[in-house]
Amino acid sequence: MTEKPKLSIGLIGSGFMGRAHVFGFATAQKAFDLPIQIDLHTIADITDEAAAKAARDFGFRHATSDWREMLENPEIEMIDITAPNALHKEMALKSIAAGKHVYCEKPLAPLASDAHEMAEAAESAGVKTQVGFNYLCNPMVGLAREMIEAGELGEIRGYRGLHAEDYMTDALSPATFRHDPAGGGALADLGSHALATAEFLLGPITEVMGDCVTVIAQRPDGKGGRQKIEVDDIGRAFLRFGNGVTGSIEGNWISTGHKMQHDFEVYGSKGALYFNQEHFNELQFYSTEDASGRCGFRRIEAAPEHPPYGNFCVAPGHQIGFNDLKAIEVAGFVSAIAGSGREMFSFRKGLRIQHLVESIQKSACQKQWVSTESYLQTGLMK
Ligand SMILES: NC(=O)c1ccc[n+]([C@@H]2O[C@H](COP(=O)([O-])OP(=O)(O)OC[C@H]3O[C@@H](n4cnc5c(N)ncnc54)[C@H](O)[C@@H]3O)[C@@H](O)[C@H]2O)c1
Repeated sequence: MTEKPKLSIGLIGSGFMGRAHVFGFATAQKAFDLPIQIDLHTIADITDEAAAKAARDFGFRHATSDWREMLENPEIEMIDITAPNALHKEMALKSIAAGKHVYCEKPLAPLASDAHEMAEAAESAGVKTQVGFNYLCNPMVGLAREMIEAGELGEIRGYRGLHAEDYMTDALSPATFRHDPAGGGALADLGSHALATAEFLLGPITEVMGDCVTVIAQRPDGKGGRQKIEVDDIGRAFLRFGNGVTGSIEGNWISTGHKMQHDFEVYGSKGALYFNQEHFNELQFYSTEDASGRCGFRRIEAAPEHPPYGNFCVAPGHQIGFNDLKAIEVAGFVSAIAGSGREMFSFRKGLRIQHLVESIQKSACQKQWVSTESYLQTGLMK
C-alpha cells in the first residue's frame, strides 16, 4: 500500500476550539478517505507549560510558547488559529506570508477591512483558507438547503434565524476577549454563525436593519476593578435577501437557559422547515399537502441518506456530535489543500460575514436600513 502524502499542522491555541479541532483532525482521518495523512506537528499556547501539556494531551510532536516559530519551520504546511479574535489578523497574515495554508476560527477578524486584507493576501499567495463555520457542515442543514432548492417548500416567504447561548448571563462573570471592542460582541461572536446559515440557505442578504444592545454595562475586569462594556450582548437584524425573501436573525449571549440555540425557520407556500441545534440530528418539516386533520411538523432524523452522516454511523437515528461537524469541516479543508475540491468557507466567505456584521452595526447606529448591495458589486465578494 502506498503511503499518503503527509500534511503537517501547527495549531495555535489549546482552549475550547483548539480541542475541538484536534478531535476534528483525528476523526476526519477515520471517517473519510482523505487524500493526505494528517500530522499533528506543533501546538502553540501562551506559556511553555500550557503548550507542553496540550502537546501531551492532544498528541502533537512539538510545543512552543511562540507561535511565530512555527512559521519558520518548512515542515509545517498549515497553520490552524484557535486563539482569541483580536489575534487572528496578525497570525493569519504572517502565516500567509510564510506560505502556509490557514484554517482560522470565526469571526475571521475584528473589522471587514482586516478580513479583506487577509482574503486578498491569501489569494495573492495562492494558499488555501478556511473559516470555522462548523454548523454549515451539519448534514441536516445541508438537507434543508437541498429541500429549499428543490422547491419542496414552494415559494419561500420568510426566514427566522437565531444563535443564542447564556454564557454571559451572569453580570459578575469577568470580561473576556469576547468583550474586546476589537472583534467582540454577541453579534460578531454568535450572530456571525446565524448570518452564515441564513446566506447558506437563502443566498445573499442585500439589506439589513440592525439593533445592537448592551445589557450588562460593566463587568469585573479580572484584576479587582471594573470594565466598561462597549460591545453588544444582543445583536438583532431584519434582513432582505436578494431573492426577495425577508427575515431576521439574532445573536445573543445572555439568553438565560439556552446553551446552544442555533435555530432557523423557513416557511414557504407549500411547506416549512424548523431546525433546532439542541436537537441537531433532526429537521422538522411541515407540508401543506398533508390531509386536513393530519397535518403537523414531522421529524426527519439524520440517517445515512443525509451525507456525510453515513461516514460516521451506518444506522439512522443514532446521531452525530458537535466534534463530528469539525471533522466534516477538516475533511473539506484538507481535501481542498490536496487539490480535490474547493474550500467550503474560505476567507472570502469570512469577509462576507464580517461585512454583514458591520453593516448591521452601522444600521443600528444610524437607525436606518443599510444596503449591502454596493459592496456585493465592488467585486470584493468574487
Ligand atoms: N466555531 C465555533 O463553533 C466556535 C466556538 C467557540 C469559539 N470559537 C472561536 O474560537 C476562537 C477561540 O475561542 P475559544 O472558545 O477556544 O477560546 P479559549 O479561551 O478557550 O481558547 C483560546 C486559546 O488561545 C490561547 N492563546 C491566547 N493567546 C495566545 C497566543 N498569543 N499564542 C498562542 N495561544 C494563545 C489561550 O491560552 C487558549 O488556550 C475564537 O475566535 C472564538 O470566536 C468558535
